[in-house]
Amino acid sequence: MRASVIGLGKLGAPLSAVLASKGHQVIGVDINLLFVDAINQGKAPVEEPRLQELIDASKGRLTATTNYEKAILGSDITFVILPTPTDENGIFTNKYVIESLKSIGTALRRKEGYHVVNITSTVMPGSCEGEIRAALEASSGRSVGKDLGLCYNPEFIALGSVVQDMLYPDMILLGESDPRSGEMLESIYKTSCENNPPIMRMNLVNAELTKISVNTFVTTKISYANMLADICERLPGADVEVVTTAVGMDSRIGRKYLKGAIGYGGPCFPRDNVAFAKLAHSLGAKPDLAEATDRLNNYQIDRLTAAAKKMLAGRRHVGILGLSYKPNTPVVEESQGVELAAHLADEGLTVTVYDPLALSNAMVELKDKVIAVGSAEDCVKSADVVIISTAWAEFKQIPASAFARKEGRIAVLDCWRLLPTELQSVADLHYMGIGAIGRT
Ligand SMILES: NC(=O)c1ccc[n+]([C@@H]2O[C@H](COP(=O)([O-])OP(=O)(O)OC[C@H]3O[C@@H](n4cnc5c(N)ncnc54)[C@H](O)[C@@H]3O)[C@@H](O)[C@H]2O)c1
Repeated sequence: MRASVIGLGKLGAPLSAVLASKGHQVIGVDINLLFVDAINQGKAPVEEPRLQELIDASKGRLTATTNYEKAILGSDITFVILPTPTDENGIFTNKYVIESLKSIGTALRRKEGYHVVNITSTVMPGSCEGEIRAALEASSGRSVGKDLGLCYNPEFIALGSVVQDMLYPDMILLGESDPRSGEMLESIYKTSCENNPPIMRMNLVNAELTKISVNTFVTTKISYANMLADICERLPGADVEVVTTAVGMDSRIGRKYLKGAIGYGGPCFPRDNVAFAKLAHSLGAKPDLAEATDRLNNYQIDRLTAAAKKMLAGRRHVGILGLSYKPNTPVVEESQGVELAAHLADEGLTVTVYDPLALSNAMVELKDKVIAVGSAEDCVKSADVVIISTAWAEFKQIPASAFARKEGRIAVLDCWRLLPTELQSVADLHYMGIGAIGRT
């Protein structure tokens, strides 16, 4: 198949590489010339595990341009993967998508034959049958359903494992304006996925609602587990690790994302939850569950701050290990580690930070509030209390010598209960894995 991909960012670049590596002819479009040049030079425009490997495997089937017409005329299906930022009312705006559809439609006027436009960006339910369809029909002069297909097909990926998640998805969610467009997209996924996932085909609005429902169900689960951790820290003998492990064994519940650690962050979860609540409000439905999930999430920074202060016991130096919102990505959007570092610095504490990939991104936000260091070991050596806020694997390797103190004890607040048990019991270390009094 010949595919064009509009937007070569964190999602668009990996999708382009996955499709091209599976034998499709892919032409990417971006307004960022650096990204276009990177793709044309065979280099990954964004940092993501395995992306470079797949670009290498694409063997000339992957090119990029800034020219919409070239991309549309050279493809049969167009994936639109552009930002849909949240506006001041908490809902996703389609302005970049609509702008792009004008260029896509204008180019389609010069193209013969059937073409599918597939929206991958996260949009508010009702967008595709509403302003997206209207913009596309107006600019192309075609009618959706006849010689033009419109699909809504978001990806369920997490940064840091985008390629893996695209190759082995739990399902493909496919909203379609008509069966022909859905079949075309289904045939692509039959070649690009390595695990033969279920393909859930439905109308456009059901797919739009499913996308944010999946994310908001997961955020509810995270907040639920964090609420349990908070309870366990106050209930003698209770341990969130033990409780969530057993609760998750129930097949109606499942263990994924039921950890009891810190709040959710990143470019999707927080804003999806807010938008979901706004949607419910706008329809006159009760958004209580989504709003409670957010309230609990916002409370996590206060909870960690209180725990850190208790462990400091009057001392002043905190080390934060982990600034990316999750491991294996440099992304710091809505990161709990960054928020915590800023919060503790605002309280007058000295804060040292380290992250394997996200340090420079985080420092753009944190500026001179905190001190950046070049290794996890240096961060630990300088601090009275260390907080492990992101579950980077390399933190498990910090040598015991880094925790040694001439006098007093360093305290570690391990939000992910990551440190090896041998380390937890070294003499100079006061260890607290979140979610149990007994571990302190
Ligand atoms: N990043 C994630 O984890 C994730 C997960 C699920 C869904 N999404 C959704 O996917 C969409 C894209 O997210 P992303 O993280 O890839 O964004 P991104 O900001 O990383 O990438 C967007 C790209 O689009 C380009 N661009 C902007 N305007 C353009 C235009 N008019 N024409 C061509 N290119 C243009 C930008 O230069 C950028 O390279 C959003 O709706 C997001 O909500 C993202």
